[in-house]
Amino acid sequence: MNQPPIGRLRALRSVELLTPNFADAVDFYEEVWGLEVVEAEHSASWLRGTGEEHHALRLTRSDTIGLGRLVFALGTPAEVDQAAQRLRARGIALVTEPGPLDQVGGGYGLRFHDLDGRLIELSAETWAVTARGRDVSLPVGVTHAVLNTPDIDASVAFYRDVLGMRVSDWSEHQMAFLRCGTDHHCVAFNQAPWVSLNHVAYEMTSLDHFMRGLGRLRHHGVTPEWGPGRHGPGNNTFSYFTDPTGLVCEYTTEVAQIVEDTWICKVWRRTPELSDLWGTAGPPSQRIRAHMAGTPDGSPVTAPVDARTEHPTPAGTEGAAA
Ligand SMILES: [Fe+2]
Repeated sequence: MNQPPIGRLRALRSVELLTPNFADAVDFYEEVWGLEVVEAEHSASWLRGTGEEHHALRLTRSDTIGLGRLVFALGTPAEVDQAAQRLRARGIALVTEPGPLDQVGGGYGLRFHDLDGRLIELSAETWAVTARGRDVSLPVGVTHAVLNTPDIDASVAFYRDVLGMRVSDWSEHQMAFLRCGTDHHCVAFNQAPWVSLNHVAYEMTSLDHFMRGLGRLRHHGVTPEWGPGRHGPGNNTFSYFTDPTGLVCEYTTEVAQIVEDTWICKVWRRTPELSDLWGTAGPPSQRIRAHMAGTPDGSPVTAPVDARTEHPTPAGTEGAAA
């Protein structure tokens, strides 16, 4: 029997990153990356962009490195309740039953694990904040996350059939770009040897703000590890960096806007000309590819983390991403 998706996700609200380099990570994202701490506790900090979300990033002190959770917006508490019913009908266990979320940022929501074991939070009625104004070279908020998965077809099927996302484009059979709103993608999957976070992208207001943001980072001594450039799939600009934990973060802007009734999914060939339309970025370095491959989510930290350390690229790992 065909079951309907759980509802209509509106947007990627925020991500949680787990880090043993907690203090350094908070300093980086606030002092350099351009987010603003809105709440801070001993083991977690919540940081906002200039947009209307209470927070775009939650940093959590942890013995492990990687993605803590992805948070998506639903429209109303009733939609959260409906999502809970439809998850149960599919036999998907809820980690948190629908109800008021007892956490910074409030909201009414639920949590469950996706096919690869990532924690997914769906929420409605989170706390309102005053938008800061977009005419600054600071991130508005998160706009997409790219996720490494050992089974891209199963992951795409889950996010399409269960979460109700639509596939915007493929990059051969290596990457799939999925949308939940008008942005070309809010999630992309990358076929990889293990489950891990590839990168998190932050939206800049315009191409001019994007470039000024790169200039602001340069004044902090932070230069792109890949970029600036413009990807074929999604048509968004990109510049990739590594944070103090070794996780990859991106400034992006001008992602393609999708008209549902007319969009036709394409398969992009993985050529240098299509992954870097401007021809300015060149190929991604082995170093940034290794950071995009990451270590398996939830793996313990066994050695001091040094974001400047060269890691060998695991065989077959594809780090390049849009
Ligand atoms: Fe990206």
